[in-house]
Amino acid sequence: MGRSTLQDRTVWITGASSGIGRALAMALSGRGNHLVLTSRSKDSLVKLADSLGGHVTVVPADIAWPSATGILREELDRLESGLDTMILCAGDCEYVDSRQFDSGTVARMLEVNVVGMARCIEAGLPALRRSGRRPQIVGVSSASAITGLPRAEAYGASKAAVVSMLESLALDLYGEGIRVTVVLPGFVDTPLTRRNDFPMPFLMNAEAAAGKIVAGVEAGRRRVVFPRALAWPLRLLGALPERVRIRLGQQMVRGG
Ligand SMILES: NC(=O)c1ccc[n+]([C@@H]2O[C@H](COP(=O)([O-])OP(=O)(O)OC[C@H]3O[C@@H](n4cnc5c(N)ncnc54)[C@H](OP(=O)(O)O)[C@@H]3O)[C@@H](O)[C@H]2O)c1
Repeated sequence: MGRSTLQDRTVWITGASSGIGRALAMALSGRGNHLVLTSRSKDSLVKLADSLGGHVTVVPADIAWPSATGILREELDRLESGLDTMILCAGDCEYVDSRQFDSGTVARMLEVNVVGMARCIEAGLPALRRSGRRPQIVGVSSASAITGLPRAEAYGASKAAVVSMLESLALDLYGEGIRVTVVLPGFVDTPLTRRNDFPMPFLMNAEAAAGKIVAGVEAGRRRVVFPRALAWPLRLLGALPERVRIRLGQQMVRGG
């Protein structure tokens, strides 16, 4: 515990072109790390890599496609001393309008946030197994996984699935010495949340979120949840009697 595990490592960050992933790349560059950056947009990744300097490799891929597994695996297998840390941050958010409930939204969210993350794990595990330096998987879920929230039938379900997938993986990989951390951020100011049309309590900037994630991982925490001021009320909301929960939920939909 407490020992820095994000220094002099080979760290793969997905979703690195924007928001939290980009802020993580900035926070982890210049620490002797070799960063491997993934997202769909090659141009943004190359621009970021140029601005970071140091040892950076760009591996563009669309994780919503099955072919991503092979593309990523080929590149990650090339890493000479393996992969030490994967930070799986790539994801998307779409809300559901229950008046026109659309299973396609659910399918899209599961495809990118859950199956896409699974593709990254499949692609990265062989390289991770070659690491001799405290290999670890860090996966970004969301505070929306804490309890059911309005319009989150697709996004919330995908993020709850991420928690479940990573918790199981933590058990199954423990014997191999691979540690797994699941991250549940509250609202972070990024292009993803700038589309939101409702109030976002305790909104924080991406740099602060990246700082919380790095600190939590370095402290050896298996679950990193922030900000506390949002996480506790959400836990409480989940435990309230149904009638109160529904009344509060309806106020949230109205933006009240
Ligand atoms: N912002 C928040 O309040 C918040 C809260 C809780 C959890 N999160 C989670 O944090 C993660 C990062 O979100 P963010 O807020 O930083 O959003 P963002 O700024 O929109 O960044 C999303 C990143 O994921 C990449 N991405 C999206 N779809 C992809 C795909 N199919 N294949 C490969 N890469 C893909 C994007 O790059 P390209 O467009 O170049 O592919 C981008 O780099 C997400 O998993 C999100 O669910 C965010």
